[in-house]
Order: sequence, then C-alpha cells, then structure tokens
Amino acid sequence: MNSPEQKPVTQERLKLAGFLDSRTKFRMLQHHLLLEPLPGGSRWAAAFGSLLMFTFVMQIVTGILLTMNYAPTVHAAFLSVVFTRKQVPLGWLIQRLHYWGSSAMVILLLLHMVQVFLWGAYKKPREFTWIFGVILLGITMALAFTGYLLPWDEQAYWASKVGMGIIGTVPLIGGSLRTLLQGGPHLGNLTLTRFYTMHILILPGLLIITLAVHLYLFRIHGVTPPWWETPERLKLQEEPFWPGQALKDGFLALLLLCILGLWCWFHPVPLAGMADPAKAYNARPAWYFMFLFELLKFFQGKYEIIGTFILPGLFFAIMLFWPFLDRNPAMSPRRRPFAVSLMAVCVFGLLGLEVFSIETSQVMPVRSLSVIRNLPMPAAAGPLQQVRAAALFSTNCAACHEVNGTGDALRTAMPKIPNFTDATWQAAQTNAAILHRIVHGKPPYMPPFGSKLTAPQIQALAVYVRHFSKATGTAKAPAPGRHAATPFSKTRPAGAPPKPRPAH
Ligand code: HEC
Repeated sequence: MNSPEQKPVTQERLKLAGFLDSRTKFRMLQHHLLLEPLPGGSRWAAAFGSLLMFTFVMQIVTGILLTMNYAPTVHAAFLSVVFTRKQVPLGWLIQRLHYWGSSAMVILLLLHMVQVFLWGAYKKPREFTWIFGVILLGITMALAFTGYLLPWDEQAYWASKVGMGIIGTVPLIGGSLRTLLQGGPHLGNLTLTRFYTMHILILPGLLIITLAVHLYLFRIHGVTPPWWETPERLKLQEEPFWPGQALKDGFLALLLLCILGLWCWFHPVPLAGMADPAKAYNARPAWYFMFLFELLKFFQGKYEIIGTFILPGLFFAIMLFWPFLDRNPAMSPRRRPFAVSLMAVCVFGLLGLEVFSIETSQVMPVRSLSVIRNLPMPAAAGPLQQVRAAALFSTNCAACHEVNGTGDALRTAMPKIPNFTDATWQAAQTNAAILHRIVHGKPPYMPPFGSKLTAPQIQALAVYVRHFSKATGTAKAPAPGRHAATPFSKTRPAGAPPKPRPAH
C-alpha cells in the first residue's frame, strides 16, 4: 500500500509511530482489523453485517441524545417526548432517526439472516456464530419491545399491555416474569423505569457482549466463501478487507444513511394521546410484531397459548439449533431443497401475516384477548378524583371567583366576595359551611349549585376551594393550569372563564 508516489514518510513520523506501537501495539490491532484476508475478494453482498453494525452505532448515538431530554415517569414521559419533538433543536430528527432506525435494524437483521441461511454460512464450523446471531435477533427484538413503551402514549401503553400479557402466558414462570418486568401487577411507573433500564443499560450491554462473541467467532472462521467458486479461484482472488470491502461497506452505509434521512424527513414518529389506563384503546404493535398479533387471532380462548408461546417458542428453538438439525453438508442452495423451502415457507409466511395485517389495518381489540382479561383493570380513582374539579371550577365559579380564587377583579361590584387564598378566610370556614354555600348559594350574587351539580362534584369543588390556601401559603394562588399539588393532576382549567354576570 505504501506506493513510492505517496508522500515520503518523515523520520519523525516513523519515530512517533514506532514509539506508539512499542507502547500500544496498535499496528497489530490495525493489521487485525483491516487486513483480514477475504477469500474470493470484496463483495457488495458481504456488507449486511457491517451495515447492521452501523445502524446499531447510530441507535446508540441517537439513543444517548434522546435520554438527555427523557424522563421515565408516568407523568413526565409523554410530555418529555413531546418536548423533545417540539422544543429541542433537531429533537424531531433524532427521535425519527432512532425510531425508524430500529425498523432499519430489524430489516437488515432479517436480510442478513436470510443471506447467511442461503449461503449455508451456519454450517460446520460456524454453528456457534449462527447461534449467537439468533441470540442477537432476540436481544434486538427485546430492545424494540422495551423501547416501544417509553413514550407512554396510548399506543405504547396498550401494545405493551398485550405484550406483557403474552409474556404472562409462559408456562410456570410467566406470572412471576411479568410481575418482575412490570414491577407489579399493572403497567405503571415501575414498568417504565424497568423498561428504561433494560432498554438503555441491560439489553445494549448484552447486545455488545453477544456481538463481540459473534464477531470473534466470525473472525476465527472467516467469511464463508461463495459456494460457486473453486478453492483455487478463491485463493487467486483473495483480497484484504482494506480497502476494497471497507469502501463498499462505507458506501452502502452512507447510502443507507441518506435513505433513512429522506424517510425520516417525510415520516414523523406516530404519537397517540398520553396513556390513560382508564380509557380502552385499540392498540397496534410496531410493524415487526404485527405478525405475532395476527397469529394470536387464530388461537382464541384456551388455545391462545399456541399463538403466544408454543409456536413462537418452537420457531425460536428451531432457529437456535438449526445448524445442528441440518446435517446436509452441501452449501449450494440448489443441493439443499428441504432447508431452502423451509426458509421460504417461514419468510413468506411471516411476510404474508405481516402484509395481511397491515392491509386489513388490524388493530388488536385489547379487551377481547384473554391474556389481557385475566387481570382486572387497575381500580379507577374514587368518585372525587373522577370529577375534573379544576375544569368544573373554571366553568362554574371562575367567572366571579377567578381561576386563582382571589375574586379581586369583581370585588368592587361584589364587595363580599371572599378571597379563597386568604388564610384568615379559610380558617373561619368549616367544611360544612363551604359545602352548604355551594349547594344553597348566597343572594344576591352567589348562585346555588345544589340542583346543577352532582354531590361528588360539589364535594370536589369544596376540596378545591380549600386547596387555594394550601397550595401557596401566601395570598398568591396557583397559576392557572398548574394545580400540580391537587389530586386532580389531569385536569386543567378551560381557557378563558365565562363572562361574569353584570352586577346590578
Ligand atoms: C355570579 C358570581 C359567582 C359565582 C358564579 C360563584 N360564586 Fe361563590 N360567591 C360569590 C359571591 C359574591 C360570594 C360572597 C357571598 C356573600 O358572602 O354574600 C360568594 C361566596 C362563596 C363562598 C363563601 C361563602 C361564605 O359563606 O362565605 C364559597 C365557598 C363559594 N362562593 C364557592 C363558589 C363555588 C365553588 C362556585 C362554583 C361552583 C361559586 N362560588 C360560584 C359569587 C359567585
């Protein structure tokens, strides 16, 4: 490679390189990484593995950037994702690259596996390279599954609920496994923190270790040479990894980045409303899990376990041990009719289920699945909590008392209007008096609400009125929309209060 027309290497550079090499042995590493001999020379078709590495690195980089603005709590997760999309410079792009990048990774992984299968690259002596590859597939799917929940929108919530239900059907350990992963009997804050830890620490760590083993095994046995070449020709055409293959890989990585970038430009990441456990939602899983959902539909009731565990488990087990099941030593696909047709059936079966469920735009009616039904819905909050007190207050009371409870604006017209944020006023009131006043009103201005509102609504309003003092401790009431300390965290006063009645 050091051709004579290249810049002459100066004495100093040689000395520096020699010094660094004596300390770090970097030349050995360089040699090992770049000069691996490729029998048969560089090939475009051999780039899938490198492309996968590239997408994985991209997922790490975009993932780290996403964590900088993400908060794994049920209250903040959704809003932090919205914040990333709307407020963080280029946040939308990072999120799209990460979201669609995971799809790219799944597609490349499948292409890589199909290719390895067709080339017979799992055969002796590469059985373990294949096995670690299948484990990598499993880890990637787990990463996709755990990542899906993190935005905590309705879509994520219900799809994950179905997913956890499926995990719960694993014989013997299913229930405990689900509780462990979920952090309790229901999806909640602990689910989010656990999924987050799995998604950003445990699974990527496992993936890196497995990948290291996969690559180590790959390097021990080298690239599988094309089956159509004779050993002599392979030897003749042998080429080192650098520069031929490295440039091909690099070019394809760049191309992939361009395609992904273009795709991301036109396709926002879908985001439904914030997850609401009390509101059913017909979830749709990520497209790469769609076939599993489709499969579930064929097995209802007590046969469900066939779709949730037996078939997928069998499939995975066969994949895992395939190199030991397939004893045919031939490499050419033409001389392996059984293996190749089995693969075709699997690939087209999966694609068929996939296309069918996308075409018929199947959603998973969550409630009809027994994997979901066998757990009771989380208990709804009590009647007081279900009433949207802040909204009630702003439609019925804020016209006079104002959203901040001071009533200052109308005090000249209604001199007796109380200041709810005033501690002395609060101290002078009994709860019964407040309730009584809301029910019966007080002429001439304070209207009675006893016939207009329900008992829980009136009780909630009384609590709400009490809260004006507690929230601040001073004369300043909470700002509209930020009644964060009330038990009614979901409520928000409607925009402008209705026009006050003219005082006469
Ligand atoms: C049309 C204006 C108006 C509306 C609407 C209104 N109030 Fe009042 N409210 C008043 C006035 C004026 C007073 C003072 C009455 C007095 O002491 O004579 C008052 C008094 C009160 C008091 C204190 C009563 C006392 O004994 O000191 C409470 C509590 C109260 N309002 C709650 C509410 C609630 C809750 C709502 C909404 C459901 C509401 N008000 C809607 C005008 C209004």
